[in-house]
Amino acid sequence: MPYDLAIIVPTLNERDNIEPLVALLDRTLAGERWQVLFVDDDSTDGTLDVLRRLARDRANVSVLHRVGRRGLSSACIEGMLATAAPYLAVMDADLQHDETLLPRMLTLLRDEDREIVVASRFAEGASAAGLASARREMVSRVGNFLANRITGAPLTDPLSGFFMLRRELLDTVVHDLSGTGFKILLDIFASSPRVPRYAELGFTFRERQAGESKLDSQVIWEFGMLLADKTLGRWIPVRFILFALVGLLGVGVHLLVLGVMLHLAGVVFLWSQATATVVAMTSNFALNNAFTYRDRRLRGLGFVWGLLSFYLVCAIGAVVNVEVADLVYRNGAHWALAGFVGAVVGSVWNFGVSAIVTWGPLRPRRKTPPSSDAGAT
Ligand code: GDD
Ligand code: MN
Repeated sequence: MPYDLAIIVPTLNERDNIEPLVALLDRTLAGERWQVLFVDDDSTDGTLDVLRRLARDRANVSVLHRVGRRGLSSACIEGMLATAAPYLAVMDADLQHDETLLPRMLTLLRDEDREIVVASRFAEGASAAGLASARREMVSRVGNFLANRITGAPLTDPLSGFFMLRRELLDTVVHDLSGTGFKILLDIFASSPRVPRYAELGFTFRERQAGESKLDSQVIWEFGMLLADKTLGRWIPVRFILFALVGLLGVGVHLLVLGVMLHLAGVVFLWSQATATVVAMTSNFALNNAFTYRDRRLRGLGFVWGLLSFYLVCAIGAVVNVEVADLVYRNGAHWALAGFVGAVVGSVWNFGVSAIVTWGPLRPRRKTPPSSDAGAT
């Protein structure tokens, strides 16, 4: 059956919420041609078993299982791209979003010429009782203010995770979406060449029933990253800016260690300089791992391998740096300029190569050992 409406539901460990959600959708959308597409990022709590059981039973339930990736935005985008339905809704799995809004949203798109309808926790008549903490509500309000500077529209809830849009709108923005983090709605508005014709509907953000929030601690950081990406990111990749800032901090760490060893501990220069270099590389790695590559953070053994590869990358970077600076210097440039050019080329090298080797496609990955009952026959 061809579907008019696809509801995209990102899931990460939502086992006990799936069946109640589908039952609610059944009730609200009776009479519509709708499907629900769950996009699961490899949940470990049995969510996938529940999803597959439902999907085997019913034609209008399907599952997109993503492995080795994370992220609310990219999950929603891929979900929307995996269906041909002309109307697309995005909604949380945890029953915090009021599904009874869906028919009204659909009417606004179908009959009222809107391109996107946003369910708002802060519009008139809305309530955000389910925002667990005062801190969280504060973050939301400050976020709204900043966010509207890039959406170009006075949305009351630009961070909402509940909205419905026409496929044509998705098509016009899809190549420009940043896809990182969780701010998909903001991303759609910010990527649209003009403010889309939108409507807002207030609703009561319910309390989460089962499971726990995945966004609470990540919200602020990722939001800052998205803002940076939509502003500075047009000229310089945000990761490079962070990498460079960490590098600058690394110079400070280096000088501090060098000074302390040389003057307070009385160690000879060569050893002081060597130690300072290793300490600075290690702290650069740890900081980049915690911030620049927060979304791909290496842990455990991966951290150790990552660190070793980072040392190697930086060692080659240092050679490149010295060679380039020497070349520039011998061609008559001022010593400071030659040194600067060498340092920049070395940093770009470190950034580019570590992006591939340390945190990118060549990064160390964990494999689970084969279970004892599989295998030999
Ligand atoms: N596939 C996938 N991948 N799903 C995810 C991921 C992920 O990395 N992270 C979270 N989810 C799913 C959750 O399973 C849930 O269905 C939905 O996305 C929302 O996650 P919550 O963890 O419940 O978010 P929240 O309630 O704290 O945050 C709410 O407010 C945000 C703005 O402040 C949500 O409404 C968000 O959508 C909203 O952006
Ligand atoms: Mn939630």
